[in-house]
Amino acid sequence: MWRLLGCTFCLFVSLQPGFWRGWAAAEELEGEVKIEVLFKPLHCSPKSKKGDLMNIHYDGFLAKDGSQFYCSRTDKDGHPQWVVLGIGRIIKGLDMGMVDMCPGERRKITVPPALAFGEQGKGSEPVPPNATVIFEVEAFSVSRGPRSMEAFGNMDVDNDKSLSKDEVKEYLKVEYKREGKPREESFFDKVVEDIFRKNDNDRNGQISVKEYNIYRHDEL
Ligand SMILES: *[C@@H]1O[C@H](CO)[C@@H](O)[C@H](O)[C@H]1NC(C)=O
Repeated sequence: MWRLLGCTFCLFVSLQPGFWRGWAAAEELEGEVKIEVLFKPLHCSPKSKKGDLMNIHYDGFLAKDGSQFYCSRTDKDGHPQWVVLGIGRIIKGLDMGMVDMCPGERRKITVPPALAFGEQGKGSEPVPPNATVIFEVEAFSVSRGPRSMEAFGNMDVDNDKSLSKDEVKEYLKVEYKREGKPREESFFDKVVEDIFRKNDNDRNGQISVKEYNIYRHDEL
């Protein structure tokens, strides 16, 4: 409850008219992402890389005056958020600043406007134009992302760099069984049809690396 009040208050302060005046000129427009490790567990593993799925909390502050504009601990009922690293779903500066991060690690990541909300800012949160922002990020889990090339390799049994319906189906069966949720044949047929409808863009009955690898990992 305290947290909730805290965040609401921050938002309120940021909206005060005085806050908006004359600050932009003072902002730094260029620069790089600055990473400060606030806490690192003794056993720091696995370390995040591009394409990984991360479960995190993050608070956002304006560098200018330290006012808080985002609180993931109160947003979405306070559940930590799932993000896929390095695919442009989060701001660039976080994609860069959260690399090599392990579960339990906390970082303070300072992001220049060009790698954050840019010249536009972000009205809803709110972040004014050209703002350098600071995120305090806590990672809870790091795992291979939904479309890791590791998974592709496991599916591609005949190693021809493309996935047939049978290959995808076999993989799904194994995955569901591993998670203790075996299903009948018709279930998998339906899922596979759906996957191919959404991903086999050239309709050749195979999912190529390009069709699969929409997050453009560097591997392979
Ligand atoms: C933000 O920076 C750009 C590039 O320097 C500048 O053209 C623009 O006027 C700035 N916007 C504000 C609101 O200061």
